[in-house]
Order: sequence, then C-alpha cells, then structure tokens
Amino acid sequence: MTEIKDPASGRPSPAESAAASARAEPSPPESVRAPLRGEVSRRGFLSVLSVAWGAFTLGSVGLLGAMGRFLFPNVLYEPPQEFKIGLPDEFAVDSVDERFKASYGVWVVRDAGGFFALSTVCTHLGCTPNWLPAEEKFKCPCHGSGFVKTGINVEGPAPRPLERYKIVLAEDGQILIDKNTKYQEEKGQWLLDGSYLPYVA
Ligand code: FES
Repeated sequence: MTEIKDPASGRPSPAESAAASARAEPSPPESVRAPLRGEVSRRGFLSVLSVAWGAFTLGSVGLLGAMGRFLFPNVLYEPPQEFKIGLPDEFAVDSVDERFKASYGVWVVRDAGGFFALSTVCTHLGCTPNWLPAEEKFKCPCHGSGFVKTGINVEGPAPRPLERYKIVLAEDGQILIDKNTKYQEEKGQWLLDGSYLPYVA
C-alpha cells in the first residue's frame, strides 16, 4: 500500500496514522463479544434450548407414568376365603390358635368336643381384639369390648358375639375353613352344621 506522507515533515499524515493504529488493534474474539441489543448469544440460546428439552423430557416421563398406572392399575392382594389349616391333632385341646389371625383374620379354637373358627373383627366398630390367655378372653383395644373364648360378648359396647366361619374336615383329613359362610349366634346360627366341627382324638 502506498504511504501518504506529510510533504512538510516527511512523516505519515494524521489520517494515515489513525488508519494504521486501527489496523493494528485486533477486534475482540467472537466468543467474548457482548451481544448487541436484540441479539441472542449462542451460549444463551443453548441454555434456553437445554431447559426446554429438560422440561419436555420430564413432561414425557410423567405422561408415560400416568399411562402406565392406567394400563396396570393397583392390584390389592386378598387372601383366599377358603383355606386349609392342618390336621386336627396339630391343635392342642382348650387352646386359641393365633397363627391365622394376621394372614386370614381367624382364631381357631379347640375345646373338649371339637373346633370352631372365630372372626377377629370386633362387632362394635370393627377393630381387632387381642386374645389375653391369662384372662381367657378377647379384649378389644378400641373401646374395651370383651368376649369370652366362645366368642360371646361380656363387656363393653359390642352389641353381639364375634362371628364364626364355616369349619369342616377336607377329604385329605385337614381342617378346612370357609369364610364365605358366616354364623351369627344372635340368629341361632351357631347350632347349624358347619359352625362347629365335632372332633375327639
Ligand atoms: S371396635 Fe371394639 S370395642 Fe369398639
């Protein structure tokens, strides 16, 4: 390029000097240049994009979860209403067997003449009484109802005895309890076949 010099001093003219210094100063790199008004920086654009993508992903996962719950609804496990509990001789005479209380809601009582199956549901408001061996009675922790070993209510607000379930001997010799059939003492149903299983060893 031809250099324009001051004819008097022989030095470059002021205009030429300004242009030269402007050429010498490098412009800031693209990555650190502040965005102009109305201009979105590349980094800002990527941030917005990643937030939007994250929100979309979360929404999709939630939607899929809701669809999954719809396609596979909760299944409540209910124990079978009819079940075998073992051979009669496995139960002691004059005992209240509590092994089936938690799993089936039944007390198996054996007296001198046989067996009966008592419901563990209090006839007041449905709480679960406890068997108190020392006092030989079922005692409800909610409002204090008490039932003797036969299931008869003797204290507290319970209006009637505990219910009994059908109890028979199966073909294989085991005791079979069927909760589909109930017997209520106040209706005279404890006298019906099935409410009591006669058994003497
Ligand atoms: S529920 Fe048993 S006494 Fe009230």
